Amino acid sequence: MAQSSPLDAYIAGLPKAELHLHIEGSLEPELMFELAQRNNVAIPYDSVQAVRAAYDFSNLQDFLDIYYAGAAVLLTRQDFEYLAFAYFQRAAADNVRHAEIFFDPQTHTDRGVPFGVVVEGLIAGIDRAKAELGVSSGLILSFLRHLTEDEAFATLEAAKPYLHHFIGVGLDSSEVGHPPSKFQRVFAAARDLGLKLCAHAGEEGPPAYVHEALDLLHIDRIDHGNRSMEDESLIARLAAEQMTLTVCPLSNLKLCVVKDLKDHPVPEMLRRGLHVTLNSDDPSYFGGYVNENYSQLAQAVGLTREQVTQLAKNSFEGSFLSTEEKATLISEVESYAAKG
Ligand code: ADE
Ligand code: ZN
Repeated sequence: MAQSSPLDAYIAGLPKAELHLHIEGSLEPELMFELAQRNNVAIPYDSVQAVRAAYDFSNLQDFLDIYYAGAAVLLTRQDFEYLAFAYFQRAAADNVRHAEIFFDPQTHTDRGVPFGVVVEGLIAGIDRAKAELGVSSGLILSFLRHLTEDEAFATLEAAKPYLHHFIGVGLDSSEVGHPPSKFQRVFAAARDLGLKLCAHAGEEGPPAYVHEALDLLHIDRIDHGNRSMEDESLIARLAAEQMTLTVCPLSNLKLCVVKDLKDHPVPEMLRRGLHVTLNSDDPSYFGGYVNENYSQLAQAVGLTREQVTQLAKNSFEGSFLSTEEKATLISEVESYAAKG
């Protein structure tokens, strides 16, 4: 990014949580290349530069095609541990104190990688992050919405031996044509297992998908939610319920959800009283980890220090931490802001 400002320095030191991060989307081209060679997996690039050059997307599907192809280099427990720990190192450098991260088991089990290999590797990375970096985290099992409800049920079944490792379930991949209603029963089953519920909604899909996520899936948190801004009654409802939205500015820019960061809806969302958080989504593909999302958005739309502080508080408030843990972390934000 351009020159670093006093607000960038403030953002850098601000304690924050990340609530919308796909661990497969943190696979940096260098690691993709290294694993492709080590695991003897063919990828359609002959250099790290060629991988980066391919990251030019017109929409969500363009990105997903490359993202699923990239994930093919992940095979062993150690690969998943390494991937997760590499993300936590970046997150710790951004003063992320807590991260709730998605993983897409079907992307791996459909290639023959056992569910347990994926989960055990990620958990090893999570445990190391807590011990070595002081970053706490939770794992969210995300269903691929372009696949069937039966396949989602099979994934939930495969997850049962590992249930204590998960804080929730999510719904991601190609949104348009795959409404939340398709997964109503599997989300009810996940809720019965004691899991929290999140769903990507209103990224490319219409406001009706956000309504469905609320009314049919009974979600605890909305991922993205941008297109909610097209529906006045939905805005009022989200504000009244203080539903957390995990918004991802650089993702929105790279996937052409917004034409320019200057057009990003976050200022309007805040003005309308929505409970917004900022997150990086797939940082290796979209050009920045969480601080970069705060800084670039702040610069583009002119966020104030108070708004930035509110966004960080919202990130802890909107997490699935306990009330006590949230209060401790929010008071750290307040002390930082008071010194600021
Ligand atoms: N999977 C990874 N990133 C995603 C996004 N932004 N939307 C939908 N599915 C995804
Ligand atoms: Zn996402």
